[in-house]
Amino acid sequence: MTDNKIFEQLHSKDNTYKNLYDGEWVESNTKELIEIKSPIDGTVVGKIQAMNKEEVNKAIKNSKEAQKLWAEVPLNRRADILYRAADILEDNAERLAEILTLEIAKDKKSSISEILRTADYIRFTADSAKQLEGETIPGDSFPGTTRNKISFVTRVPLGVVLAISPFNYPINLSASKIAPALVVGNSAVIKPPTQGSISTLYLAEVFNRAGLPKGVLNTITGKGSDIGDYCVTHEDIDFINFTGSTEVGRHISSISVMKPLLLELGGKDAAIVLEDANIDKAVDNIVSGAYSYSGQRCTAVKRILVMESIADELVEKLKVKVRALKTGDPRKEGVVITPLINSKAADFVMELIKDAKDKGGKLITGGNREENTIYPTLFDNVTLDMRLAWEEPFGPVLPIIRVKSIEEAIDIANRSTYGLQGAVFTENIDKAFYIANKLEVGTVQVNNKPERGPDHFPFLGVKSSGMGTQGIRYSIEAMSRLKAIVLNLNNAE
Ligand code: NAP
Ligand code: G3P
Repeated sequence: MTDNKIFEQLHSKDNTYKNLYDGEWVESNTKELIEIKSPIDGTVVGKIQAMNKEEVNKAIKNSKEAQKLWAEVPLNRRADILYRAADILEDNAERLAEILTLEIAKDKKSSISEILRTADYIRFTADSAKQLEGETIPGDSFPGTTRNKISFVTRVPLGVVLAISPFNYPINLSASKIAPALVVGNSAVIKPPTQGSISTLYLAEVFNRAGLPKGVLNTITGKGSDIGDYCVTHEDIDFINFTGSTEVGRHISSISVMKPLLLELGGKDAAIVLEDANIDKAVDNIVSGAYSYSGQRCTAVKRILVMESIADELVEKLKVKVRALKTGDPRKEGVVITPLINSKAADFVMELIKDAKDKGGKLITGGNREENTIYPTLFDNVTLDMRLAWEEPFGPVLPIIRVKSIEEAIDIANRSTYGLQGAVFTENIDKAFYIANKLEVGTVQVNNKPERGPDHFPFLGVKSSGMGTQGIRYSIEAMSRLKAIVLNLNNAE
């Protein structure tokens, strides 16, 4: 049931949002604020605090203290708090989806599904944590050791987890760091994307309402370029769980010396379409994979590698579907192509479009812009000298590269610096496995678009796409460590 007053303390009457600190919503002392404007029409969604380093330090120190007690709370009680959080989130899905839509211009349907998926994620995390088991290892299996030694191996928390999330899933990619971190006894400090902060602050209150002890979850708002380096190098941060661009991920990894890191970064996922593919199925998957949320997904299909013999048919069918995509205000029913997150992002996509046009790419549809909305764009005959063949647009632009053989497709796919996912469309399972085995990526989808879910599957990028593995059980494991206690008996031989 929805409680209308539940989020009242998050912001003042003029929509100035506060931060969660030690269980209370507080304003920054500096009174420096950042206006969050909607990408839809520029209206102010609210203002957030630009915290300074002193305040960031206070928040992290508070989480450090809180973690000691939280780690002592029995796992079943930590899990109960997560179940409550999932229920609160679900009960308030409509309301939070409206905020999400306004703040990041995600279409209505995808906003609701992000929130419901997050509630499921949180519940599944609690379930999975309860199934975690340790092991005992007898010493005498190792040469020269007698039966007097046994190692008891269990999982313990790391301490304070710094969660940094990107703008495109501010609720889901914050919760998928916070929930696994908390359930194993870490405390968490969340630094949300600036554009996406408001949605994430609502999520923080969901956890707070669910009964988290004070300080177990604190929020830090402010620009990553101002406070990011300070956060990631702070002495009391024990683990960094980052999702965002390769550029920022690489930077964090270069300065956060000796801190364990999980990085989920950019991608250039290829969909390889073979002669024997079910073309209609491939077209449906490619269109939804490439264009949903205007292509602002790390796992979006970002290039097609198609066999020449079927390329004309594929392009024709894609053209029809891409032209039918509804463009406009994300609050309207059925809209898929919405304004990009900001004008810088739209400028970048237009640069890639211009470069492809200048170098002879065949524009099949789109290529035009209205403010920050880029109409869904499809390019055929993209060649390897074009930026569109290699760079991640994070916008609704799809390049088609025609290839002559499977080997050529694999070679081009693997020449990318990215290695998140890949897709193969074919009715031949042997060819599917042959290609899947050769692709240098975290996951290969056979006859489906690249995608992160279901969320208990492992999700990882290689090369410039990341480091470490997410996915519910894998995230819990990444944010905990083994602890061994060795029992040395006197009375065994
Ligand atoms: P971004 O610009 O890299 O920002 C990501 C987060 O990092 C934001 O919270 C940002 O804060 C923060 N940040 C910026 N500079 C920082 C610093 N020096 N230290 C610490 N934090 C810092 O990425 P984005 O534009 O939000 O997201 C788009 C990118 O994320 C794409 O490349 C996409 O592929 C990738 N992504 C990857 C995955 C995956 O699972 N592999 C999932 C989603 C997105 P501010 O907002 O304040 O700058
Ligand atoms: O870009 C966000 C990434 O996590 C993609 O998730 O579910 O859209 O494949 P999904």
